[in-house]
Amino acid sequence: MKKLKVGVIGAGGISHFHIEAFKKIADVEVCAISDPNEQKLAFVAEKFGILKRFVNWEDILKEPLDIISICSPNAFHAQQSIAALKSGKHVICEKPIALNTDEARAIVNTAKETGNKFMGAFCNRFAPHSQFIKKMVDNGQMGEIYYGKASCLRRRGIPGLGTWFTTKKLAGGGPLIDIGVHILDLAIYLMGCPEPELIVGVSYNKFKNQAIDGGWPPIWSRVGDKPTGTFDVEDLAAGFIRFKNNVTLFLEASWAGNSETGMKISLFGTKSGVQYWTESKPPLKIFGELNGYPVDTTLEFPSQNVYQLEIEHFVNCVRNDTQPITKPEEIITVIKIIENIYKSAETGKPVEL
Ligand SMILES: NC(=O)c1ccc[n+]([C@@H]2O[C@H](COP(=O)([O-])OP(=O)(O)OC[C@H]3O[C@@H](n4cnc5c(N)ncnc54)[C@H](O)[C@@H]3O)[C@@H](O)[C@H]2O)c1
Repeated sequence: MKKLKVGVIGAGGISHFHIEAFKKIADVEVCAISDPNEQKLAFVAEKFGILKRFVNWEDILKEPLDIISICSPNAFHAQQSIAALKSGKHVICEKPIALNTDEARAIVNTAKETGNKFMGAFCNRFAPHSQFIKKMVDNGQMGEIYYGKASCLRRRGIPGLGTWFTTKKLAGGGPLIDIGVHILDLAIYLMGCPEPELIVGVSYNKFKNQAIDGGWPPIWSRVGDKPTGTFDVEDLAAGFIRFKNNVTLFLEASWAGNSETGMKISLFGTKSGVQYWTESKPPLKIFGELNGYPVDTTLEFPSQNVYQLEIEHFVNCVRNDTQPITKPEEIITVIKIIENIYKSAETGKPVEL
């Protein structure tokens, strides 16, 4: 089997999970890495024995690599994905894959034009509960899904407080684009990618003066980082989205707030409903009906390394020339919804698409 050569752009917290996953796959080698922070570049390269190191990300694209894994701050994702695709590489890019719809479209178009593969790194799709719900949807066991609720809520603790995470021009926003994007992607995937037509969004920043660092990226990975202290993004955002087929979704994401926490998705179908909530035991609940009576079923799955499953899936797509799980229209829809929740929050008006 041909050995696949991988290069990683961005040597921060998430890169460790990508590299560890690639290294566990036979005939895959992580050969090169790039990060403008030379101290961190050396730290990660030495930890994983990566020989080629580049301070400038453009230089890694000159290497004879098959796959580029993009783990840089959000604002660079589109530019780096497009350049990597054009340089003949297949690309797996961390979420959010872009800051706005135009960027997302440009990535999708470049992947199409070049014939190289592009996948958004949406690890939650690979969780066993997600795949279980997906099977229920595909087998018609939920009937018509007409309403959904998706939330990703934290109580206190801002990731990378005072770093690129909390700097609008580098992150694109706060919890909505950081963690809300995960649960929104899952909802769009499970609901069959309906087309949004009306979006109402709100955003708040109430914990600016009480914010505490949430511990991500892992402290040990922050080698040589120089935080600026900027915090100009929201700490909570929510959106109400009506789709063209009259399906609706309520979405909320917070880094701080006085509320329940965790990741939760509820889908209402005409035959059954599902709720997955990380904080409930067992986490998956199916609301069904038997002989005219409501019947609830609860399930728990063994935990899985979703990063490993995600990276293995992408490597298999490259090897077998198959399409990655993240479809172009899903990628664009997710970013379009986020962009327009922010737009609606800013203008105070609903957005009709
Ligand atoms: N899928 C997940 O569960 C998950 C979890 C955490 C982070 N992420 C995503 O991964 C990405 C990286 O997050 P992180 O937590 O590793 O952040 P991090 O701050 O730990 O790492 C980012 C790294 O990128 C480097 N960098 C800055 N500018 C760059 C540039 N122009 N080119 C290349 N590298 C550059 C920084 O020096 C830093 O080392 C983000 O997009 C984030 O949303 C995904």
